[in-house]
Amino acid sequence: MYIRNLKLINFRNYHQLELSLHPKVNIFVGDNAQGKTNILEAIYMTAAGKSFRTTKDREIIRMDKQQGYIKIEGEKRYGKVTVELKLEEEKKKQVKVNGLTSTKRADLLGNVYVVIFSPEDLRLVKEGPAERRRFIDQELSNIKPKYFHHLHQYHKVLMQRNNLLKKIQQNRGYMETLEIWDEKLAELGTKLMFEKMSFVSRLSMLSKLVHRKITDNRETLELKYQSSIPMKNNDAEMKDFFIKKLQETLEKDINRGSTTIGPHRDDLGLYVNGIDIRIFGSQGQQRTTALALKLAEIELVKGETGEYPILLLDDVMSELDPKRQQFLIKSLRDIQTFVTTTELNNLETMEFNEKEIFYVENAHVKPYAKD
Ligand SMILES: Nc1ncnc2c1ncn2[C@@H]1O[C@H](COP(=O)(O)OP(=O)(O)OP(=O)(O)O)[C@@H](O)[C@H]1O
Ligand SMILES: [Mg+2]
Repeated sequence: MYIRNLKLINFRNYHQLELSLHPKVNIFVGDNAQGKTNILEAIYMTAAGKSFRTTKDREIIRMDKQQGYIKIEGEKRYGKVTVELKLEEEKKKQVKVNGLTSTKRADLLGNVYVVIFSPEDLRLVKEGPAERRRFIDQELSNIKPKYFHHLHQYHKVLMQRNNLLKKIQQNRGYMETLEIWDEKLAELGTKLMFEKMSFVSRLSMLSKLVHRKITDNRETLELKYQSSIPMKNNDAEMKDFFIKKLQETLEKDINRGSTTIGPHRDDLGLYVNGIDIRIFGSQGQQRTTALALKLAEIELVKGETGEYPILLLDDVMSELDPKRQQFLIKSLRDIQTFVTTTELNNLETMEFNEKEIFYVENAHVKPYAKD
């Protein structure tokens, strides 16, 4: 898919912006703090319903304004898609997809597909498990709105259970009500775990191929879903086992006032030639793996949805060496790509014919003119 137009009103530092976009490569060049990433953030929000930088709409709405607005018009295989987001202080976001209004994030998901690649993603491999969980949750929610729904419910139940655990610390009489929450948590948790396991195995196959190419067949990448509860063969067995494990860890959970097992505690194992590169990988290996994961994600979205996603590359080019840059660029082919950079020199390897370069200065965007 690709986006044809972007419109912003009172979004970040933009007062009002209307842009026609190139179906292939769009490069945003400008000094720091001019509004380059803000454009990528707006596009991202039309896909994910939230920012990748903050959870607070207040920060996104232009200072001194009460409302912000984003609109994109895009083309998909089967026709046009229009997504509008209205951000209001102290209110839920209002979503409009092809003219139909909703306040549910779930109604937005599954309309626009994006893959974002930023310097933070390059650190995905060496960061803690929470970052990798966030990565999987984000990707799965993007391609499977139902996953997002289950995830949301799971976290609600988890919070309730944790609150109850804290009450039990004070008064054992509350024990009785725990059973209902364990049951719910296990049911939802089981769904999430199987979804994640299958996602990781698909991502593993795709990223292994990409990774082989980047390393000239010298290295083999393998991904493993590392669950905090051993996986069982089917939903029913898994759910029972989940409940059993919750009972086993109950005393520990009560002491801590939080639930120590479940999909909110799992991790993505990353191995190159059998070695855990989260811990033992060189910086180069960790970056190559992160790149392979992102490129695999593009193929995965295509496989799942039939559409190539839009790729957002925020400041990432300057962090890759020429060889990895070349590889990334070669992989882009027909994908609409948005690139930000402070220096066009960082993009020397990007010899695309089909591109538009925009110059961003203090929330004004205009076609880039040499000198
Ligand atoms: N809610 C807001 N209202 C007004 N301006 C804002 C708001 N939020 C952020 N800004 C401004 O937006 C600018 C940052 O924009 P952005 O993150 O897009 O910069 P950038 O061009 O990507 O810079 P860099 O090259 O440093 O990454 C800053 O000047 C910041 O003050
Ligand atoms: Mg930026």
